[in-house]
Amino acid sequence: MKPVRSTILGVGHYVPTRVVTNDDLAKLMTTSNEWIVQRTGIRERRYIEHSGIGASDLAVPAARMALEHAGKAAKDVDAIIFATLSPDHNFPGSGCFLADKLGLPGVCALDVRNQCSGFLYGLSIADAWVRAGTYRHVLLVGAEVHSTGVEFADRGRDVAVLFGDGAGAVIIGAAEGDDQGLKAIRLHADGSGAKDLWVEAPASAYMPRLTAEMLAEGKHYPAMNGKHVFRWATEKMPEVVREVMADANMGVDQIDLFVPHQANLRINQFVGQKLGIPESKTVHNIEVYGNTTAATIPLGLSEAWREGKCKRGSNVLMAAFGSGYTWAGAVITL
Ligand SMILES: CC(C)(COP(=O)(O)OP(=O)(O)OC[C@H]1O[C@@H](n2cnc3c(N)ncnc32)[C@H](O)[C@@H]1OP(=O)(O)O)[C@@H](O)C(=O)NCCC(=O)NCCS
Repeated sequence: MKPVRSTILGVGHYVPTRVVTNDDLAKLMTTSNEWIVQRTGIRERRYIEHSGIGASDLAVPAARMALEHAGKAAKDVDAIIFATLSPDHNFPGSGCFLADKLGLPGVCALDVRNQCSGFLYGLSIADAWVRAGTYRHVLLVGAEVHSTGVEFADRGRDVAVLFGDGAGAVIIGAAEGDDQGLKAIRLHADGSGAKDLWVEAPASAYMPRLTAEMLAEGKHYPAMNGKHVFRWATEKMPEVVREVMADANMGVDQIDLFVPHQANLRINQFVGQKLGIPESKTVHNIEVYGNTTAATIPLGLSEAWREGKCKRGSNVLMAAFGSGYTWAGAVITL
């Protein structure tokens, strides 16, 4: 029999051990701890310890932790969804590398390229697969290595200070009973803002895809119109939350935990105030991890669950906004 709903059976996370503070970055570019904390809330972030560690490597311990939490073994996974904007290599997708590292030959592996909204886009696919009976246990991962892709110089300082490396993972499977599981999910995109936060090259749109001139101009680094991103995020995150709350037929007072994407503490404080969600119910770890894009939501949920901020039966609200532009929201009863 096909399940009525899917739910999160287990959650895990992993961050590299190397801590990089704002003062460490101030040695590489003109910036300060005060500037970064005031505008973003970020105090430190984690970076991979050395070259050769890709997003799929960070995903392995996160996936194992999620499997253990779910009481499942790797062999129980029959599909992988890997959300990342920093795949180990241009192709194939990081899901294939992860499947190999977990010893899962033949298992379906799909990469999702929806940046900060990637985890929720992946959740929607996993939910559909489980409810359709296509797959029973989907390993959904968000993992990023940003530290090899930002520019540690004044030109790239607006972006470089924001991002960190990390991974989060969940196991999605059939919910027990009618009340448990994913109650609502909405996905959105608007490509008119695509170039407000993007990496221009290497690009299949150019011949050749990458030149010495492009490298000199820094086209291979992320470029961002921070003010536009900020404005869109503070408009679209509350909007999508209202949509999913209405779909789920719930009021925000019924929410036990709000896990927003971690791009900027000020964005999330603004969103929380606009929606009337108290800070005590809101997850934030941007202070210590920065923005780990597709990893922020599962990473935040995993820590919150272990700290007892949510449990089976809790109503959890999730919302994200990011490059694309893409944005999404979801409500789940754990
Ligand atoms: C990036 C962000 C913190 C910048 O804050 P801001 O108040 O908009 O700052 P501005 O871009 O106006 O820059 C102000 C000044 O600080 C400078 N600046 C930029 N980065 C800096 C840094 N790391 N350290 C010190 N100064 C910096 C700018 O060059 C600018 O200098 P100028 O006035 O001499 O031109 C903010 O726009 C933001 O958070 N946007 C959203 C970004 C985001 O969430 N991205 C991820 C989406 S998922």
